[in-house]
Amino acid sequence: MAHSQAGIFSLGDPSQAHFELNVRSPERAKELAGALMELERPHSTVSGVNLVVGFRPSLWRELMPARAIDARDFDRPIVGADGFTMPATQRDVWLWFTGASYDVIFDQARVAVTTLSKVAEVAFELTGWSYRHSRDLTGFEDGTANPSLLEAADVTLVADGEPGAGSTIALLQQWRHRTREFDHLSEAQQEDVIGRTKAASDELPPERMPGDSHVARTELHDAAGDELPIFRRSVPYGNVGDHGLMFVGFAREQGRLDTMLRQMAGMDGPRDALTRFSTPLTGAYYVVPSLEALRELSDT
Ligand code: HEM
Repeated sequence: MAHSQAGIFSLGDPSQAHFELNVRSPERAKELAGALMELERPHSTVSGVNLVVGFRPSLWRELMPARAIDARDFDRPIVGADGFTMPATQRDVWLWFTGASYDVIFDQARVAVTTLSKVAEVAFELTGWSYRHSRDLTGFEDGTANPSLLEAADVTLVADGEPGAGSTIALLQQWRHRTREFDHLSEAQQEDVIGRTKAASDELPPERMPGDSHVARTELHDAAGDELPIFRRSVPYGNVGDHGLMFVGFAREQGRLDTMLRQMAGMDGPRDALTRFSTPLTGAYYVVPSLEALRELSDT
């Protein structure tokens, strides 16, 4: 049985840091494996952090063709019918640190970035922190409809026996909020934007659910009417003047994430009302390999 990277499911870590790195040159890509394997400390129980490592899908295919999974890079912006655009800012490697406090993350992330600097340079860094336990900075609970830990592995991981078993695909997207504009709405109007009540996070009844609410634009079903969920681990970021949500979503099929983005952008139907109050600044997909695949990479 293939084993996933544990940090994907490490719920409750209030402090986080995201790094996206670019390999310095295509020739150095092969050295990446060695440099990543030097990162023993963040993988040890005494470090107090979880580390998840992801790779640009096409880079992963190049490095480990036998472990490749069906995924493509975020190499083109997604543009809705009215021109609303989700930018494509694909990078080569993603490091996601989570832990109880920022001091341990800072120390481990510094070591990691320095160790990798021979091979890759940081293109993007963002520090995240949980807000009122599990709320987005709009004040709404984020994660209510998430699968529980009993179901999350099935939703997230490529099944045993399939190519890339134990791996997953992550979507990483920074959204900058315009909270002041959102705060000007009445609570009922805010609830119409999200599709859930603000206090209890109850889904709005069908007769009240607007077709352009965030829930309506992201709830996916297959032809038989069964729900096609994803597993979200998004985190708020920023300061009083500039803040938002670092969206982190996992799925075993990239199509689910991609369809949700297209629907949010208004490619097939109304544009998600939430996009009138928050703007995507980045967008990248990463293959998050199984532990077995990561170890194999170090032997290549
Ligand atoms: C500004 C960025 C975003 C914010 C503030 C946000 C916030 C929220 C909130 C408050 C909910 C309702 C509570 C819950 O079930 O978690 C929700 C639900 C959801 N969001 Fe987002 N979200 C954002 C972006 C995205 C993106 C980019 C995707 C997918 C690619 C996504 C997928 C979902 C899904 C699948 C649900 C559950 C829908 C259901 O009820 O079945 N969200 N989000």
